[in-house]
Amino acid sequence: MSTLLLRVLAIGVAVTAGAVCSGAYAQRNEPTELVDQQHCMFCHTSDAPFLAPAFHQIAERYRNVPNANLMLEQKLRAGGRAHWGDMPMPVSAERGGPPLSPEDARTLIEWVMSQ
Ligand code: HEC
Repeated sequence: MSTLLLRVLAIGVAVTAGAVCSGAYAQRNEPTELVDQQHCMFCHTSDAPFLAPAFHQIAERYRNVPNANLMLEQKLRAGGRAHWGDMPMPVSAERGGPPLSPEDARTLIEWVMSQ
């Protein structure tokens, strides 16, 4: 079996498993107010890399990483090392938004990961 086919199969299984266990998160509505307040779409888009990786790419990369949500929530609030290039994402104060509560960070990351 070709590597490509294996990969496609693996993705299929992952997607199916994800759909089964995270039904509540599937196609989560955009938390528009938070997204606007925090200017997420200033640098990100849902499906095309622009100044920053697309949310779709981010969701793909971390979908099967244990505790990724927690790491990303902390990163949204406190910042951290760059994972995609040289430019780390600015923390909320630098993004020009109000401080991000843990609940809001979770809402945002669940939304990103549902894309
Ligand atoms: C000023 C531009 C900018 C804004 C505004 C911005 N981001 Fe980012 N974001 C980036 C860049 C650049 C990266 C890539 C950083 C890296 O290499 O880890 C990134 C990475 C990410 C990642 C992946 C982090 C990782 O460790 O892989 C997530 C999740 C994310 N952004 C979510 C958001 C959300 C949600 C918002 C709104 C609250 C937001 N971003 C606002 C520029 C921005």
